[in-house]
Amino acid sequence: MFIRKSVEQMHAEHEQGELKKTLGPLNLILLGIGCIIGTGIFVLTGRAAAEFAGPGIMISFVITGTLCALVALSYAELASAIPVSGSAYSYSYASMGEIVAWIMGLLLVLEYGLAASTVAVGWSGYTVSLLADLGVHIPPEFTAAPGVEVTDHDTGAVIGVGVLNLPAIIGLLAVTTLLVVGISESALVNNIVVFIKVGVVIAFIVIGASYVNTDLWSPLIPEQIPAPPPGTDMSIGAQIMRALGGVLTGADTGQYGVPGLITGAATIFFAYIGFEAVSTAGAESKNPGRDMPIGILGSLIICTILYIMTCAVLVGIVPYQQLDNPAPIALAVDQIGLPWFAFVVKLGAFAGLSSVMLVLLYGQTRIFYTMAKDGLIPKVFANVHPKFKTPWVNTILVGLLAMGFAGFMGLDALANLTNVGTLAAFAIVCLTVVYLRYARPNISRPFKTPLFPITPILGALMCLFLLMSLMAHVPTRNFFIIYLAGGFLLYFAYGMWNSKLAKGEVVSGHEQPNPVQPNQ
Ligand code: ALA
Repeated sequence: MFIRKSVEQMHAEHEQGELKKTLGPLNLILLGIGCIIGTGIFVLTGRAAAEFAGPGIMISFVITGTLCALVALSYAELASAIPVSGSAYSYSYASMGEIVAWIMGLLLVLEYGLAASTVAVGWSGYTVSLLADLGVHIPPEFTAAPGVEVTDHDTGAVIGVGVLNLPAIIGLLAVTTLLVVGISESALVNNIVVFIKVGVVIAFIVIGASYVNTDLWSPLIPEQIPAPPPGTDMSIGAQIMRALGGVLTGADTGQYGVPGLITGAATIFFAYIGFEAVSTAGAESKNPGRDMPIGILGSLIICTILYIMTCAVLVGIVPYQQLDNPAPIALAVDQIGLPWFAFVVKLGAFAGLSSVMLVLLYGQTRIFYTMAKDGLIPKVFANVHPKFKTPWVNTILVGLLAMGFAGFMGLDALANLTNVGTLAAFAIVCLTVVYLRYARPNISRPFKTPLFPITPILGALMCLFLLMSLMAHVPTRNFFIIYLAGGFLLYFAYGMWNSKLAKGEVVSGHEQPNPVQPNQ
């Protein structure tokens, strides 16, 4: 259970790999932004403002941005010290050992696989709206998961109840097909999509700024609503968090008030996921010691600034109560009477979110590929197609699973589960930095987290704090606990007995089955 790969072994495995070292700092920053800007800012921001934080959503973004900066410093240290193309899974295997790597693998399924489903649902909202503008109307029942109310994009009126989210399934089907035949994203396509996405966001900020009514910013933190939202229960963490908010505001729920800011921060955490994807390109970076920290921190800082300004404009144009809409940014643009620009925003979201889906699903298949190479999951996940040179069975299985979740689960539930898994993974990454500093003080660390050990410990604590606030939601908590318990059983039933490292077999390296990398 505690057997571990040595850092040197990691380096050796990757020296056998044939990945070209082509990525410089700008490519890495664009890689990060390509994965970060997606459903979080384009969809979840509206919902988090309407349901939890009000105009204070700006503060929620600052809170989560701070947390991510702390975590990013930990990622930067690990990515510069262990520049491998695995991910947090590889860092855990090289530090705290196999069982922690296994847990990390489980969490990464939520962070990548389920995140792909979440992005697909956000993508579906904008696509349905875009098609409606083009005169193609999909019956509302086929645009949302079972039981989810479908509202009219313009009026907000309920127009049906979902049965199946067909566009989300079709989007993932297309992405899965591209991945099976080996069309990963090229650096050029990634860069074009990033410029479109960032262009749309900046245009929204610049054009929208002149329409902002600052009266809508106040009260910045609306008063708390006394009754707990339906379907929620209090975990100990949530009780502490809400009690803390209650002490400060005199009320006791997570809707508006200080607790609302925290719940909002936990919800829009999804918007920041992706900066760590830069660390997965470690083996292809020209100068990882210098460029990894620049890529990780640079993309995070740029997105944080864009996010806070986007929120300020959004809640300054549309009263926050009306923002619970599948395409809130387009709604704001419609409200200022620029339908052509709303169309551009929808097109930008369509392209931008497609690429996030692709990168996330790609990441998930490569994590399974690496785990299968290590013997921890069945080797069918490492089967490479003779013609396409891609792990095709793995990709099809991952794609089908993602389609199932996207077709039948609502955005909130998906985003919450992704957030819970990712927050737990981030906390482990922060603790890995602390562990390695003591266990392996002498390995080369071109980048060192400043203010050690305060930075990683504070990062881990903030992750756990937001994690607990999400666990207040009973279905999320139950799913997470059952999922982890099932995962442990699988390890004891399969992984532990088949681990190549434990059996003393030489692991052949984590070379990629498909020479086309996301950013080449
Ligand atoms: N941060 C990415 C998004 O918001 C995953 O879609």
